[in-house]
Amino acid sequence: MREFLVAGNWKMNGSAAGNEALVSGIVKGTPDGVGYRMLVCPPFAYLSSVAGLLKGSNIALGAQNVSQFDSGAYTGEISPSMLKDVGCEFVIVGHSERRAMFGESNEIVAAKFVAAQGAGLLPILCVGETLEQREAGTTEQVIDAQLDAVLDAAGIGAFEQAVIAYEPVWAIGTGKTATPEQAQAVHLHIRKRLAGHDGELAGRVQILYGGSMKGDNAPGLLGMPDIDGGLIGGASLKANDFLAIAAAAARD
Ligand code: PGA
Repeated sequence: MREFLVAGNWKMNGSAAGNEALVSGIVKGTPDGVGYRMLVCPPFAYLSSVAGLLKGSNIALGAQNVSQFDSGAYTGEISPSMLKDVGCEFVIVGHSERRAMFGESNEIVAAKFVAAQGAGLLPILCVGETLEQREAGTTEQVIDAQLDAVLDAAGIGAFEQAVIAYEPVWAIGTGKTATPEQAQAVHLHIRKRLAGHDGELAGRVQILYGGSMKGDNAPGLLGMPDIDGGLIGGASLKANDFLAIAAAAARD
């Protein structure tokens, strides 16, 4: 059975004092139960300090972005091996905000995915359609192109050590969540696309949902057969909100 991953994407939020309160709240309130794991992805500036705050817990640390390059003259960039060095296990690649605002193409995202794995990080590959694409009926084509760029660059075997996050752009930070049925349909499509390459492996890949996930809608989403957790923005910034989603993922 696939485990749930409850991943907090803090985006460009936080402060030294605020992070301390948030992480201690999450650590103290970690729900009992099995079958799930929590992950927090703070901004780069706080990775080391949050790594310290997480010591002794089993909450994982991840980054929100990474360079596709290994080292050298790339002012302002952070390499995969640096993330590994400061204690990251995961890194988000291809978040829609990076695709839309920072010009990350499918090819750049694929290069980041490959570089992250090269350093031993688990990439969380974000895919998802805009509202216009959904309304034009091209959701599956958009997601296929996003997935195929990574499949071409890394091969299906790479998904053994990766997570996918389906994040409909129209649901991110808008309070509009995909219904469990809408999300499940796309998750199943993603799994089938991977199964076209390797059915057994496709059955093991964790596929998270992201987009206005909260404590009250998490049980419905996590109850769907192909939804294996959440990538959570807004609701990961308050310990109780994040813990409510973790509680929905915990099994007896
Ligand atoms: P949201 O963000 O939960 O605030 O909608 C999700 C994300 O962008 O990862």
